[in-house]
Order: sequence, then structure tokens, then C-alpha cells
Amino acid sequence: MKVKIRVNALISVVATVFGLSLSASALAVDADAALSLARQNGCLKCHAVDKHKDGPAYRDVAAKYKDKDHAETVKKLINHITSGEKAKFPDGHEEEHKIIKVKDVAQQTNLIEWVLSLPGGVWPEKD
Ligand code: HEC
Repeated sequence: MKVKIRVNALISVVATVFGLSLSASALAVDADAALSLARQNGCLKCHAVDKHKDGPAYRDVAAKYKDKDHAETVKKLINHITSGEKAKFPDGHEEEHKIIKVKDVAQQTNLIEWVLSLPGGVWPEKD
């Protein structure tokens, strides 16, 4: 009987840890696929993970949105890379943001989830 209780407790601990890590979403992200999609689409001409280029560092984008509703943020950022909305550049001019070539929402979502999973950013940006 005692053994059975211990096993149940163990299962619930494992389930809790597993559930928590799943909801952290970082585990579900395919970072290699995200990075190569970004590269193929020219995103890295204006963005880097940890440096401001013409566009914000991706880890700083993660910091900007970290306290916001996650699902809303994903939707907003997918719109940002698919709609050609105005983007403000460091010199003050505005132009339509680059539209990603890939139409597959799963790949777009993986890219945005990867950006949002990057640690170590600050907002407002420092560099
Ligand atoms: C020609 C330069 C350029 C290219 C290419 C570019 N971006 Fe950007 N991006 C910018 C600039 C500038 C901003 C800042 C926009 C603003 O704050 O108004 C930005 C902002 C962003 C943001 C943050 C939006 C927000 O709400 O804070 C994300 C995410 C992003 N870009 C992703 C991408 C992805 C993915 C690609 C490739 C499909 C890409 N960018 C290609 C210049 C670029």
C-alpha cells in the first residue's frame, strides 16, 4: 500500500514538472528551423539575436513582450511579419516592414515563438 502511494506521488511530481515545462513553450520551439527561416527571408540583415541592427535585437523583443498576454503577442507579431505594417527605423524614417515569404502559419509561429523564447534581453533596448 505504502509503495503504491509513493508511486502515485512520484507520478504526480513527474506530471507537474512535465506540464510546467510544456507550458513554458521554449521546449516546443525548433530553434534551428526558426533561425534558418529567418536567414532565408533576409530577417538577419536587420535583426540579430543579441545586437540592435536596423531592427531590435530579437532577445530584446522577447523582453518587450514578456509580461504581455502570450497568445495576443504571437498574433500581433505574426501580423507584423505578414502585413507590411509601418516599421520605424533608427534614423527616424518609416517604411513597410519586410513580409515573410513563407505562408505556412506553423513555420511563422515557430519563428515568432523562438524570438519570444530568447533569454537575456532588456527593454527599452540598451544598445
Ligand atoms: C529592412 C530591415 C528589416 C528586415 C529585413 C526585417 N525587419 Fe523586423 N524590424 C525592422 C525594424 C526597423 C523594426 C522596428 C519597428 C518599429 O519599432 O516600428 C522591426 C521590428 C521587428 C519585430 C518587433 C516588432 C514589435 O512589435 O516590437 C519583429 C518580431 C521583427 N521585426 C521580425 C522580423 C522578421 C521575422 C523578419 C524577416 C521575415 C524581419 N523582421 C525582417 C526592420 C527589419
